[in-house]
Amino acid sequence: MLIDTHAHLQWSSFDKDREKIINRARKIGVEYIVNIGFDLEGSRKGIELAEKHRGIYATVGIHPHNASTLDQSILDSLRKLSENPKVVAIGEIGLDYYRNLSPREAQKNAFKEQLLLAEELGLPVVIHDRDAHADILKMLSEFKGTTAAIMHCFSGSKEMAKQCLKSGSYISFAGPVTFPNAFRLQEIAKWIDLDKVLLETDSPWLAPQEVRGKRNEPAFLTFVAKKIANLKGMSIDELANVTTENANAIFQFP
Ligand code: NI
Repeated sequence: MLIDTHAHLQWSSFDKDREKIINRARKIGVEYIVNIGFDLEGSRKGIELAEKHRGIYATVGIHPHNASTLDQSILDSLRKLSENPKVVAIGEIGLDYYRNLSPREAQKNAFKEQLLLAEELGLPVVIHDRDAHADILKMLSEFKGTTAAIMHCFSGSKEMAKQCLKSGSYISFAGPVTFPNAFRLQEIAKWIDLDKVLLETDSPWLAPQEVRGKRNEPAFLTFVAKKIANLKGMSIDELANVTTENANAIFQFP
């Protein structure tokens, strides 16, 4: 059994075949999917989907791209949504200094507000970090010990991975680890202790090498798992067991 810890099945590109995609994932062994929120509407839709399906869970949060939309009423709505038993984390939240779709100050503010919310609710956070490694680590360090973090689609250096692990964060690997030129990421996957490793697809984005350019889906998690198992010199089953245990530990699926 594998757990896709990061997918966006509420995205419109799944409108025509969402049920089929979920069944396909299940058949291949991806039995749990954590459906990640990115704005208020997406968070709501994610919960609806989770309520309809055994094995699907949801997170609620405002993505850094949408950070400038965050106000008190949205925060209150997120708090309310998080009462749903299928909500297992706040996310994805963080900083994106690559696309800068919201001003950096708005991003930092939204990140901080949602870290506070996670702390208040006792939920872990799913972190989006693009070209913002230093600020992410700095802001997370203020919540050390109160809020566990998952570094979604980890893209930092080995040094950053070390710092994340030291602060108890989880490192999540997605499709890019399968790309032929992803030497640095593969080196980290080889080196890292498995007890904080998670697997994800980030569907519909970041399709692995074997299906690169296509719409990604949770069933393709097997390509990510195969790559990491290869790098580690272990069987997919062993890797699946450990990463499933890790996902259970952080998300505490009800
Ligand atoms: Ni995502």
